[in-house]
Amino acid sequence: MREAVAPDLLGARDCIASKGGRLGLPLVLLRETDSTSEEAKRAAKQGAPHGATWAADLQTRGRGRQGRAWTSPRAEGLLFSVVLRGTKAWRYPETLPLVVGLAVRDVVSTRLSSRDVLLKWPNDVLVANKKVAGVLVEATRECYVVGVGINVSVRQFPPELEGRATSLALEGAEQLSRGALLADVLAALDRDVEHVASFGLGLIHGRLRAVDALYGKAVSGERGSGIARGLSEKGGLIVECDDGRVQEWSSGEVHLVTHL
Ligand code: BTN
Repeated sequence: MREAVAPDLLGARDCIASKGGRLGLPLVLLRETDSTSEEAKRAAKQGAPHGATWAADLQTRGRGRQGRAWTSPRAEGLLFSVVLRGTKAWRYPETLPLVVGLAVRDVVSTRLSSRDVLLKWPNDVLVANKKVAGVLVEATRECYVVGVGINVSVRQFPPELEGRATSLALEGAEQLSRGALLADVLAALDRDVEHVASFGLGLIHGRLRAVDALYGKAVSGERGSGIARGLSEKGGLIVECDDGRVQEWSSGEVHLVTHL
């Protein structure tokens, strides 16, 4: 008999249906896969529609940004990827990581009501300076694939992440259901994504500013160093450089090292 997906993730179907949004349909729940983003990309080539979503209890080749691996013990993380189509009409697709990051941040924050949950540009979600969730946005010929990893009930991280990563459970959240979390993130994303990608960050600029982990902080990257001064309309990081010039950095061209 094939083993089933853990019950808390199985609940995602009902949670998504009750919200009536366009993301999360169809929904494929997997006990194990190489990577939900690879599942989504393979299916997108075969015509998977806008909103199609893959979530898994375990990934054997989970990927993070900048070629890093994303690992999570079985059923302890929310690991999912969603296909976004209709994107040719988008004028500001580069805002996508920020819209997704904000949606994830907002939902994480509802589970940790007494904590400050911040967004570190472009899309790391932080609690007490430790990363609780990450976002990987990939463009394919057909669509965008948005991959999200949230550390839900992880209590032990590999040595290289000790002190830099945390989870909802470690930060005090209780009665966590990955299915409900998934439905909430998809609904939050559905609310803002098309408007922001079409018209720029205006709609969410104030909300981003309020949770910007870098604002006023010293940052350094491939283009130099300076003080972070917020985000541009297109989603770039505005940096007042040490020599007084103001630059707009894009996440693609910098490897950011921050001193939070
Ligand atoms: C990062 O912070 O570096 C981004 C992490 C993104 C991880 C998620 S888990 C679900 C999806 N599948 C993957 O292989 N990666 C993303």
